[in-house]
Amino acid sequence: NFAPQGYNDDLRLAHVLADSVDAQTMDRFKALDLRIETKPDLTPVTDADKGAEEAIRSQLSRARPRDAILGEEFGSIGHGPRRWIIDPIDGTKNFVRGVPVWATLICLVDEGVPVVGVVSAPALGKRWWASKGTGAFTGKSLAAASRLKVSNVSKLSDASMSYSSLKGWRERGNLDEFTSLMDSTWRTRAYGDFWSYCLVAEGAVDIACEPELNLYDMAALVPIVTEAGGRFTSLEGADGPFGGNALATNGILHSEVLQMLNPNLDPLL
Ligand code: IPD
Ligand code: CA
Ligand code: CA
Ligand code: CA
Repeated sequence: NFAPQGYNDDLRLAHVLADSVDAQTMDRFKALDLRIETKPDLTPVTDADKGAEEAIRSQLSRARPRDAILGEEFGSIGHGPRRWIIDPIDGTKNFVRGVPVWATLICLVDEGVPVVGVVSAPALGKRWWASKGTGAFTGKSLAAASRLKVSNVSKLSDASMSYSSLKGWRERGNLDEFTSLMDSTWRTRAYGDFWSYCLVAEGAVDIACEPELNLYDMAALVPIVTEAGGRFTSLEGADGPFGGNALATNGILHSEVLQMLNPNLDPLL
């Protein structure tokens, strides 16, 4: 039963939106004529990114005409307490190189709280989702789902961490703190993009962090991590996906990691 907080219909809609773009993004992933452009920030964008976002936006504006929308490729439209946040393809660099680790991220934020998140990774044959108050799940459909739960690893020396490139940590002036965090863990791997955070929700990874992210890179992941029992904050400890960077953990390790990355931080965070 997914209904207690009243987001049941929104979660179902997010699944319908993901269903409707999975086939189209998969077709483009396999196609030999993918059109790749370079954005002003020198990152790639393809006709698949744009096509998926267009398809989601047009369905959303029919299904939820009063809700606002923010998408990576076509920006923001509308105002109000409810806003859908779309990353049509997270992991475009993987997508263009034929690596199957990419996903469509769909989130509903209500009054500033991410309440529904769906991550659909058709090339991996996986989907993860959550809605506020009802838990986080993975599976082929709402009907065939298993509940996600974070790990109970309590020591950094037993922890598995996923991160991204070192450049952002250097730019943040935080590289020494980050490398000593790396050295304190049991294992560090760059699983990348949405996948790091879904692995935290699955209990397969204990810490995921990144020094530079946009709202659409993170929003859908917040309910998935938190409803699985984990914690999602900025690197400074502010709750939610609004800080321009991310730290997701199993919750147990969260304050120790915050403390290592920010030696001057309030130890109560
Ligand atoms: C990227 C991914 C990646 C992050 C980059 C993002 P995109 O998103 O989220 O993990 O390190 O900063 O731009 O462009 O593939 O949607
Ligand atoms: Ca991009
Ligand atoms: Ca992204
Ligand atoms: Ca994207």
